[in-house]
Order: sequence, then structure tokens, then C-alpha cells
Amino acid sequence: MSKFFAVIPAAGSGSRMGNSLPKQYLALAGRPMIYHAVHTLCVSPEIANVFVILSPEDREWLKYDWSEFSSKLVVFNCGGETRATSILNGLKAASEKSLIGNEDWVMVHDAARPCLSKELLKKLLDELSDDEVGGLLAVPLSDTLKRGGTNNRVQKTEPRKDLWQAQTPQMFRYKLLLDALCKPDSITMTDDASAVEALGLCPKLVLGDVSNIKITYPKDLVLAELILRAQNGESYDKQD
Ligand code: C5P
Repeated sequence: MSKFFAVIPAAGSGSRMGNSLPKQYLALAGRPMIYHAVHTLCVSPEIANVFVILSPEDREWLKYDWSEFSSKLVVFNCGGETRATSILNGLKAASEKSLIGNEDWVMVHDAARPCLSKELLKKLLDELSDDEVGGLLAVPLSDTLKRGGTNNRVQKTEPRKDLWQAQTPQMFRYKLLLDALCKPDSITMTDDASAVEALGLCPKLVLGDVSNIKITYPKDLVLAELILRAQNGESYDKQD
């Protein structure tokens, strides 16, 4: 029977955060940001192992105690130049250690999405575990889309019908994901589904939730903290 694995690419520098500390280690709700994704994936009873892909130059990971996750967590210091190469290197490393098989499922989840809930993770797993292709969490676009031009003048309003915002986790079988990410064009793709689409396949869109935000800019951390507190049933006392 196929098993389920999670991969967390965490080898980025997070330069848009304007901080010398890579964003996956910025403090969020009293923990390094990556802790939250590691926790949600490791406590899922369906997931056999969680592979974390760090940069070979990472100097932060070992500053924290990860022993509570030791039964599931496997760390590889094999991150690459891009997100896609980090994931590809991690998949190969897991296979070299005979930890994963061709038909097993891989859920790729960015370290920069700390607010994934247990319920959403379970929903993705339930909706895709019998799927031919696999798929991803995503939410339909709610804003009106403008195409900008010179001097930020609107050139066109784009129809938003059928447009979705891709989130993670994105879930595919090991061999399919490996084949997709091995293609030279995949190196610069910003998500795994794009690489699978380039093989001519149509991943399934599983309705996600706007709370599964991606941390890109410093202000995103404030919102993430609120979401995490709400998920944990804690009230948020606003400080001046
Ligand atoms: O930079 P961005 O937010 O798009 O990165 C998404 C995820 O990919 C992050 O978790 C980041 O650490 C990871 N990443 C990586 N290797 C890279 C670049 C990004 O693992 N070379």
C-alpha cells in the first residue's frame, strides 16, 4: 500500500523579508516559523516521515531542539539554487536512503506557510489519495485583477472567472513528481503543480482556505500570528 510523506523545502534565503535571518527561522508565536509546518505535518497520523530540505550552509536548524519529532523527522542539507532543485535533491536523497517508493505520495509544503490546519491537511489527503494525478490546495480569486503598464496605469481588467491562487501542500506520487521536476524547464517553476502540468497532466484543485497564507513580507507575520492564535483557541490582546 502507498504511504504518505511530506517534504518541506526550507533552503531559501527569504530576501523579500529584508532580514539577514532566513525567513523560515523568523520568530512566530514563540517559535521559529518552520516549527509550525513541521508540527502540523509530524502530528498527522497518516504521514510516515517528514523530510526537511535545508541549505548546505544552514547555520540555524541545529540551534533548536527538534527531539519531539524524532520519530518522523528526517533532515537533508541538500537545498539547491531554486525551490524546485531543493525539492528534487530532497526526493533523490530520500530515495537513496530507501525511505520512499515510486507509488508513495509526497506532500510538498513550504516552510513559509505556517498556518496550515490539521483539518485542511486531512481534506487534501482524503480528496486526492485515489486520484490519478494528484493536486493541490487552492482558493478561487476574490479580488478584481488589473494588468498594470507604464507608470502603473491600468492596461486591462482581467476576467477572474476560473482563476485560483495556488497554495501548498501540493500532493503527487513520488515517481511522477520526480519525473516532472527533472525536466530542465521545471528548475525555475514556483510550484510543483506547474511541473506536473508541463507533462500534459491536470492536477486537481482542492478548495483550501485563505488562512493558509504564505509569509513573504514582514507584515504577513502579524497576520500569521493572529491566525495561529485563533486556531489554537487563544484570544489576541492587542498591545499599543
Ligand atoms: O521564496 P519563496 O517564499 O517562494 O520560497 C518557498 C519555499 O521554498 C520556502 O519554504 C523556501 O525556503 C523554499 N526554497 C528552497 N530552496 C530555494 C528557494 C526556496 O527550499 N533555493
